[in-house]
Amino acid sequence: MAEQYELDLSARVDLRTDRPHPARVYDYLLGGKDNFAADREAAHKGLQANPDSRIPPRENRMFLRRAVRFLAEQGIDQFLDIGTGIPSAPNVHHVAQGINPRSRIVYVDNDPIVLAHARALLTSHPDGRTDFIDADLRDIDTILGSTAVSETLDLDRPVGLLLIAVLHFIGDENDPWDIVDRLLAGLPSGSYLALSHLTGDFRPEAWEQVAEVYRRQGVTMKVRSKQQIERFFTGLDLVDPGLQILPAWRPDLGEPAAQPPPSDAQVSVYGGVARKP
Ligand SMILES: C[S@@+](CC[C@H](N)C(=O)[O-])C[C@H]1O[C@@H](n2cnc3c(N)ncnc32)[C@H](O)[C@@H]1O
Repeated sequence: MAEQYELDLSARVDLRTDRPHPARVYDYLLGGKDNFAADREAAHKGLQANPDSRIPPRENRMFLRRAVRFLAEQGIDQFLDIGTGIPSAPNVHHVAQGINPRSRIVYVDNDPIVLAHARALLTSHPDGRTDFIDADLRDIDTILGSTAVSETLDLDRPVGLLLIAVLHFIGDENDPWDIVDRLLAGLPSGSYLALSHLTGDFRPEAWEQVAEVYRRQGVTMKVRSKQQIERFFTGLDLVDPGLQILPAWRPDLGEPAAQPPPSDAQVSVYGGVARKP
């Protein structure tokens, strides 16, 4: 499997290091090394607009792990993680397979740098399985119709759909609510959606400036209100405690909270988990 991706790399990957990419800016803000000058410049401009810009990625990563833990504890043993990001261990399969080694995960991202790191996502426990698809969240048929999905997941059984910190890269013109509906339509009853999304509710001007930094470089970033984010869960049963600023979502399931705890405005990301009836 790893060899296959190595071949893909030489043939297809153009990292476009001249412009910032969300996965690499996020990696830089998390303290990673898989980023280039254009990414660091965008991150620093973002930090000027909002000096707390490192807090959302950190809290988001912690939420991802708690949400996966929660789903695994509900018996979910297959995951579709779209907008995976550059691997930052523990990744989804580490958490899920730590609870059930037979867990199976398909990772999806449209950034070539994530493809370049796919090997780190394919270190499955031998009892389970992981795979990676280089695809765009908007190409639902490509994702659900892929051999990676058909060979790794059983779509007749519940799946945990993870859309963590990715929907704010989809503008309203691409109707992200419809994208979520169509993805869920391909999954059976008992599946779950775990989602997180940046909000401008607390610091609208600062986040508008951050979004503008991205926009000027050709990258869509759209922060949304709590009400707009809640719409993603229409028709689903939100599990307690509902849609929350991340640290308030089941803190007991994760690592100890950061000290001092960040304010809601510093975090500015909502997250929630819901079950498809
Ligand atoms: C902020 S990172 C989040 C990574 C990870 N989900 C997490 O929460 O730690 C967003 C990721 O979404 C990916 N992404 C953005 N737009 C996408 C799209 N249209 N289709 C697939 N992936 C996308 C980016 O390449 C990046 O890796």
